[in-house]
Amino acid sequence: MTLTVPDLAQDIDRLKRQRNAIILAHSYERPEVQDVADFVGDSLGLSRLAASTDAEIIVFAGVYFMAETAAILNPSKTVLIPDQEAGCSLSDTITAKDVQAWRDDHPDGQVVAYVNTTAEVKALADVCVTSANAVEIVKGLDPNRPIFFLPDMFLGAFVEKQTGMKMDVWMGECHVHAGIGDKEIKETLAAHPDAEFLIHPECSCGSSCLFLKPDAKMLSTEGMVRFAQSSEKSEFVVATEVGIIHRLNKMASGKTFFPVKETAVCQYMKMITLEKIHASLLETKHVVTVAPETAAKARRAIDAMLLVG
Ligand code: 13P
Ligand code: SF4
Repeated sequence: MTLTVPDLAQDIDRLKRQRNAIILAHSYERPEVQDVADFVGDSLGLSRLAASTDAEIIVFAGVYFMAETAAILNPSKTVLIPDQEAGCSLSDTITAKDVQAWRDDHPDGQVVAYVNTTAEVKALADVCVTSANAVEIVKGLDPNRPIFFLPDMFLGAFVEKQTGMKMDVWMGECHVHAGIGDKEIKETLAAHPDAEFLIHPECSCGSSCLFLKPDAKMLSTEGMVRFAQSSEKSEFVVATEVGIIHRLNKMASGKTFFPVKETAVCQYMKMITLEKIHASLLETKHVVTVAPETAAKARRAIDAMLLVG
């Protein structure tokens, strides 16, 4: 029998209570997935929640590296991802071997890993960062020792600019954000000249965006939500994955959000559906595990990040 969306949502709710489970969802998830979640947020907020929950089961409606982070932070809990093919093109750009090669060349180096990385890469990092805290964390590093920032080149360039620190930056990119170009931005800004401009730092337009609109705000997904809620403006042009529009509409109702690119869709995030969440809770699948030795090393870098702010 095929269940309707309300039936599925109702049964997911029943299963959650029965199994003492919590659903964490990233703000790029499908609207109906965000709506059944106990918590929706950015990578930093989700990591913090994963570290503090009392639930026995965490269903991660997000991509694999996020579920892996939750598993590293909660070795005694069951972390489930409804579709284990939900990967990340950015995380795929770098391997542990690449990081080890840099470490071998820079024995006194400091490795800063964006959370969009595998557990094996995190295990070789000194500290993790998200788009919400990268600038603050890099500012706290030793400027006299080499720094390797990975894997996002646009976030890396933004951090270098904000901190004035020189870093070796890995040339990785996210296909969704790299595809948000100057042309769409110019057109959307021209159509809404009074709107605030919110940009995710993974976008390829980084410096040209700031040239087009010097008061543009570079923010993580949750930073965008907070900014829109507290801003006096009523219109916002948004440069990131379009799933965020549902969250912005919900959290800052009465305001209007214009995505720069309607087709900026992360197909990995969209692999998570209500049907798969339901099956995940019902059949306890797919359990996310990380080898204990890798998890222990990766945890040091994640904890170093969570200590900040
Ligand atoms: P945030 O941490 O800002 O939510 O970004 C995560 C991500 O995957 C962006 O593509
Ligand atoms: Fe990865 Fe890009 Fe999808 Fe974010 S939007 S999860 S960086 S592929």
